[in-house]
Amino acid sequence: MKTALITPGGDAPGMNACIRAVVRRAISSGFEVCGINRGYQGLLEDDFIALNNRSVSGIIHRGGTILKSSRCAEIKTDEGINKASEILKKKSIDYLIVIGGDGSFKAANRISKKSGVSIIGIPATIDNDVYGTDETIGFDTALDTAVEAIDKIRDTATSFDRIFLIEVMGREHGFLALEIGLASGAEFVLIPEVKFDVRKISEELKKEKIQGKTSAIIVFAEGAGDVYKVAKRIEELTGIPVRVSSLGYIQRGGAPSAKSRILGTLFGSYAVDLLRKKVKNRVVVIRNGKISDIPVELVISKEKKIDLEIYRIIHQVT
Ligand code: F6P
Repeated sequence: MKTALITPGGDAPGMNACIRAVVRRAISSGFEVCGINRGYQGLLEDDFIALNNRSVSGIIHRGGTILKSSRCAEIKTDEGINKASEILKKKSIDYLIVIGGDGSFKAANRISKKSGVSIIGIPATIDNDVYGTDETIGFDTALDTAVEAIDKIRDTATSFDRIFLIEVMGREHGFLALEIGLASGAEFVLIPEVKFDVRKISEELKKEKIQGKTSAIIVFAEGAGDVYKVAKRIEELTGIPVRVSSLGYIQRGGAPSAKSRILGTLFGSYAVDLLRKKVKNRVVVIRNGKISDIPVELVISKEKKIDLEIYRIIHQVT
């Protein structure tokens, strides 16, 4: 059976551990494995590479993806889907294993419908916003990276009696921001899923200042709005100096944490078990610590819900 492996979309630490597990387990199962370089752009340019056990040596501890990725507008078009399908059929690919987020799974599902190639999705994105799974590969590492950065920023916030708005990634969701806020002891976490009132927040901050708390950390999910506008408004309303620090792409890189490596390896190994059973069009997930699989159609049609209990706890313990 011929399997192609692709890592489209935002890279995430732990993807290489997953690639390693898929390649090694597939080869030991007697399957032929090839990689597609540069995500869907590479697929459309027929950029394939044969993979063997040596191809994945010494990568488990490396961030990013050895297959590289790309943002590919063409794959969102009918022509792109048709072209990708033709290329996979020409190469007699039986299975396409997609290590990525729900955007990657949506395109893969369209390719599967067009080409008949089966797909197995493996959730990998720092956003942790894939429906049906408690965790995605890379989320744990991004969480650690952001919390470490905020611990450092807290030092200068207290030295200068400043309020810091820390903008974090997560696209249109607040999953990453919420857990960063919880772990870093942020006074407030602003996420797209919950409306917030800048006046009320400013009132709170002024009250805390009177009670002697002269600095604060506010975690701001990038999808929650314009962080600079909100920062300016808070400074006007409180009279306290406010600074913005946008963590940006540091959240996407770095050596994967042990947990990200373990999740990548377990997901990759489980994905090949599905191939061995000839199971089609599923996404590997982890729920309450147990790995299983659910239909691709379900994952791409539903929206993961934020845990408002965590939101409440964060704002009760500040
Ligand atoms: O999906 C992962 C992610 O890092 C998001 O959190 C972020 O908004 C986006 O990718 C950035 O995309 P790009 O790498 O194309 O700038």
